[in-house]
Amino acid sequence: MGFDAEFVIIGHRGAAGLAPENTLPAFRLAERLGVDAVELDIRLVDGRLAVFHDSTLERTTNGTGAIEDKSWDEIQALDAGGGERIPEISQVFDVLDGATGVNIELKGKGTGAALAESLMSNRPSHPLLVSSFSITELETFQRSSGSAPIAVLIAKFDERHVHRAIELGAWSLHLHDRLATPERVAHLADCGVRVFIYTVNNPMRLRELRTIGAHGVFTDVPDRCRDEQRKS
Ligand code: G3P
Ligand code: MG
Repeated sequence: MGFDAEFVIIGHRGAAGLAPENTLPAFRLAERLGVDAVELDIRLVDGRLAVFHDSTLERTTNGTGAIEDKSWDEIQALDAGGGERIPEISQVFDVLDGATGVNIELKGKGTGAALAESLMSNRPSHPLLVSSFSITELETFQRSSGSAPIAVLIAKFDERHVHRAIELGAWSLHLHDRLATPERVAHLADCGVRVFIYTVNNPMRLRELRTIGAHGVFTDVPDRCRDEQRKS
């Protein structure tokens, strides 16, 4: 369990292919399906850390507009799928077993500092990994005494970005699947970081990635990925 497993299966937004993304049932389901860790996205709303992917409400709720412009009460009145509410990050910690890893992706502005502060006052027992596309938010998390390993997300390959990640002491790099060539995965692994690939929903692709030396995948369908793992 957690991020040290030999090959890590991470439930993307819980289990986004099987339950409403980033809701408590999605996280519970991912755990029941045997993931090593779950991934979730956070945004700062009214000074609280909301578990939510998009900058706007339309795609996944019955609300409209930018989530960061709303009050906490306003977003709690919304349906985030199947009658579920948008969770606060502490609720996710509370529903998961302490051995399940939690990868917290800093999405919105101010999340690095807010997460560092929140972990200082309420440190869950779960293995944690804090990631972002934003180096600035990750730096702020570290400067604010954020006590968890960090990971840098890469959607466009740029060697300078990789160097910066290594300078920051990133524990892992999270690479988009279309960038995950055998040469690149081997090169990154040689830099001494773990390499996790997002988002992988095809079991055959999972097998390939394992063979070329990736250390884990994010998946919307942990059931399929676990079945594939069991075969090997
Ligand atoms: O953390 C992996 C993945 O979640 C990054 O992309 O847009 O799904 O948050 P996105
Ligand atoms: Mg994410």
